[in-house]
Amino acid sequence: EAAEKEGYQHFMIKEINEQPKGVSETLMRRLDKEDHIVLDGIELTKEDLTHINKIYIVACGTAYHAGLVGRYLIEKFAKIPVEVDISSEFRYRDPFVDENTLFIAISQSGETLDTLAALREAKRKGARILSVVNVVGSSVARESHDVFYTWAGPEIAVASTKAYTTQLIAMYLIALHMAKTTDVICDEYYQKVIGELKILPEKIERILGDIDRIQHLADAQFNNESVFFMGRGVDVNVAHEGSLKLKEISYINSFAIAAGELKHGTIALIEDGTLVVALATQDRLYEKMLSNIQEVRARGAYVVAVAKEGNKEIEKTADVVLYIPDTMDELTPVLSAVPLQLFAYFIAVARGCDVDKPKNLAKSVTVE
Ligand code: G6P
Repeated sequence: EAAEKEGYQHFMIKEINEQPKGVSETLMRRLDKEDHIVLDGIELTKEDLTHINKIYIVACGTAYHAGLVGRYLIEKFAKIPVEVDISSEFRYRDPFVDENTLFIAISQSGETLDTLAALREAKRKGARILSVVNVVGSSVARESHDVFYTWAGPEIAVASTKAYTTQLIAMYLIALHMAKTTDVICDEYYQKVIGELKILPEKIERILGDIDRIQHLADAQFNNESVFFMGRGVDVNVAHEGSLKLKEISYINSFAIAAGELKHGTIALIEDGTLVVALATQDRLYEKMLSNIQEVRARGAYVVAVAKEGNKEIEKTADVVLYIPDTMDELTPVLSAVPLQLFAYFIAVARGCDVDKPKNLAKSVTVE
């Protein structure tokens, strides 16, 4: 096992560090020399897409959070309505699915029982099944009409990291492919997004180069018993993933909310020293987030913000700012996930938790 960890203390930190490679592999295997997306073997032609009037993305855990970002991307780029559901809910709620439905299952292992059951239910009702899977030849992959494999490599730590960021890349490529094939986006915008996607691995490397700062922060904050994550727009989805990462490995009671919902309940829980992680990476929603941060600070919260490099003004409002390299608003989830993974990791280490094998949790849930 020590050899497999290649000098890292845990699989989780090794896998966090493997993200530039996983992201790059997942992307480059699907781009040709002219930067066209090649979905060989996946039937999403113009003809196929004209029949699809609804998309369901269904998954569990971290993969569900990748699905939330997937919905944002498909609706934004391809303008097709998308619903995201948790597998165990989808399979029991008699959702409206027919032969014009595209069902996208996301699963690292491809063996999660609820996801497999949801897939079977959608297939029985006539949906086309596309899965985004990491483990080649797994049950979800075998039972799907089409498979988009992520190239994260084996993920051992129970808490998913590199599988998540590669699932995000798969969703960018699927959404962009749909948009391009149906002529919903112009070439210029397409090229701009692809160009930005290609430099994400370098940008992740830059975040990984600043690990010490995050470790210091975690060392100072590991004693909190509850943490709130908040964001707006696509940042809410990342907030949910940041919160899950923290709770699953550190056993801290954490949850995530849309910052606009603060006033509808959560603000009542803010008191002196409450730790709030605020994602403020969206240019369009930046000012709104600054006022949400002020609201919680005014009630005593200690705020760790995640923002794009260059948005220095936030330093006046938050207690600590973790910067991600600048990129388009649409692409921040791939970057902002990384400091939150590191934050969760170092907090769990500081609390003496069994990071790779948290209590009560399994890597792959093959029972109901
Ligand atoms: C378990 C794991 C999570 C994972 C989820 C879904 O809860 O601990 O890390 O996100 O299952 O697994 P899947 O293999 O379907 O992505």
